[in-house]
Amino acid sequence: MELRGRIAVVTGAARGIGYALAERFVAEGAAGVTVVDLNPADCRAAAERLGPAALDIAADVSDEGDLATVIERTEAEVGPIDLFASNAGIGVAQGIEAADETWDRMWHVNVMAHVKAARLLVPRMIERGGGYLLNTASAAGLLAQIGDAPYSVTKHGAVALAEWLAITYGDQGIKVSCLCPQGVNTDMLTGGGSDELSLETVRAQGVIEPEDVADAVIAGLADERFLILPHPEVATYAQRRAGDPDRWLAGMRRLQARIGSS
Ligand SMILES: NC(=O)c1ccc[n+]([C@@H]2O[C@H](COP(=O)([O-])OP(=O)(O)OC[C@H]3O[C@@H](n4cnc5c(N)ncnc54)[C@H](O)[C@@H]3O)[C@@H](O)[C@H]2O)c1
Repeated sequence: MELRGRIAVVTGAARGIGYALAERFVAEGAAGVTVVDLNPADCRAAAERLGPAALDIAADVSDEGDLATVIERTEAEVGPIDLFASNAGIGVAQGIEAADETWDRMWHVNVMAHVKAARLLVPRMIERGGGYLLNTASAAGLLAQIGDAPYSVTKHGAVALAEWLAITYGDQGIKVSCLCPQGVNTDMLTGGGSDELSLETVRAQGVIEPEDVADAVIAGLADERFLILPHPEVATYAQRRAGDPDRWLAGMRRLQARIGSS
């Protein structure tokens, strides 16, 4: 898919990867980009920076009513949505000790928001001949996030859902891409949402800028490629994990020990 003339929605777009995607979609000539995030003032500020193609709608993506409003307003005020980027996501940097409420919140933001967006949009997209879902998971959804159990589990869920959507609706014109970066220089990485172990793991593997992720997304959308890997080495790690899980787990334990003792 080329972005010129298209109408896109990006969640979690007030900052970080979401903002870089929205900015790049506008630069590529998108006819409209809806900026969705939790805080209305943050959404407004992002949309103002993006210019007249941007519409701001504050919403909690885990709330199906909020998502329905985002879709209704975008389609009424701008036009039919060509591309919906479910990008908002959260990390917690906790293990199995994380409270049930924390697991629930991670599940609802990192997975159910993607389910709800698809549930609301796929029937409309099929009816008008097709559409594109871009779901941000993480390399943690193909591998694991050392130090963050709910993130690892929910991001694996996000990858599984994206695969399921591509299989189930691919022949009806629904294109799906699943974005799986490793470390990206955003508030998620630097703003206190991660513990030192998680942070060191990510830093050890190389951190790129949100704009680099946007470059990879534009290339992946142009190719209509399912897996978008801004860190190409993630494909090799995923192959190693699939090819010899015990060896891969031993390697991850060594990485964890190395980082924990540094
Ligand atoms: N930064 C990384 O290293 C990295 C790596 C792999 C994947 N990711 C994924 O990329 C996505 C974007 O992350 P980022 O690094 O830009 O993070 P970020 O924290 O900089 O931005 C995320 C944005 O999502 C918003 N958000 C959170 N919960 C929301 C909700 N319920 N409803 C609406 N908006 C909500 C936040 O307010 C924030 O503006 C996430 O899904 C994240 O898991 C990030």
